Amino acid sequence: MGTVAELGYLGFEVSDLGAWRRFARDVLGLAVGAPRPDGALPLRMDRHAHRFLLHEGPADDVAYVGWELGDQAAVDEIARGLDRAGVPVRAGTAAEIAGRGVAGLIWFVDPNGIRTEIFHGAALGREGFVSDLVRSGFNTAGQGMGHVLVNARDSSETERFYREVLGFTLSDYVDAEAMGHRFHAVFLHVNPRHHSLAFAELPLKKRLHHVMLEVNSIDDVGATFDRCQELGVPLQRTLGRHQNDRMVSFYGYTPSGFCFEVGWGGREIDDRNWVVRTYPGASEWGHRPVVPA
Ligand SMILES: [Fe+2]
Repeated sequence: MGTVAELGYLGFEVSDLGAWRRFARDVLGLAVGAPRPDGALPLRMDRHAHRFLLHEGPADDVAYVGWELGDQAAVDEIARGLDRAGVPVRAGTAAEIAGRGVAGLIWFVDPNGIRTEIFHGAALGREGFVSDLVRSGFNTAGQGMGHVLVNARDSSETERFYREVLGFTLSDYVDAEAMGHRFHAVFLHVNPRHHSLAFAELPLKKRLHHVMLEVNSIDDVGATFDRCQELGVPLQRTLGRHQNDRMVSFYGYTPSGFCFEVGWGGREIDDRNWVVRTYPGASEWGHRPVVPA
């Protein structure tokens, strides 16, 4: 079985590119690049040329998720595994490969209806990346760009698919209640980051609940929190620490209405001694729901 190395990039379909441009630059501290050949607006956060690609459109949701592998042989192995599992796999077109800035990609539709791309050879930026706002930088080396929490159509089927067909590894479960709704969340890892993919059946119309970016200093969590207050970005949850990955973080709303989480101090997994647990709550402290105005 091929092994997914990390969460490589995310494509979002957004209705207000101007709002996203300001949000990405002035709140998250990302760098906005020149439009890609397909018109997508790239956002940079580390040595990769881009980690987000914003496409103008009405969905205001995730358009695709890109998982990075080491080389074409690893991509081909994943393709064979998908084929054996009866999942239709398509080769990326030359235009798609140019748009993403990768050396090669395949794609399929995952159990949640999300276009999922498996690629290798991400383009790197010409110069090293330094954020104007996030002084400590983003923690991505060997851990990918962060994590996503997806709204699952069928959590059991999603877990089976990602573990058995794609080779993701179980981190833990959270069985808890949030805003009057009981949920069972599943957390999977592909590298030392506690989870790169999480999912739960949520009472949401969107397919993406949130994307998490990890900064290298608690001060940059606080500074990002301050920028949200100053610029009127609505919060979803206050500062808190998660029980499972022990991340200290807060949540707010992106201009597309799905959430972002900015955190620090996430725990890393060593598969040689990891014990899977089920946690009775999402957070040790904080993460109190905020009802936006
Ligand atoms: Fe998260």
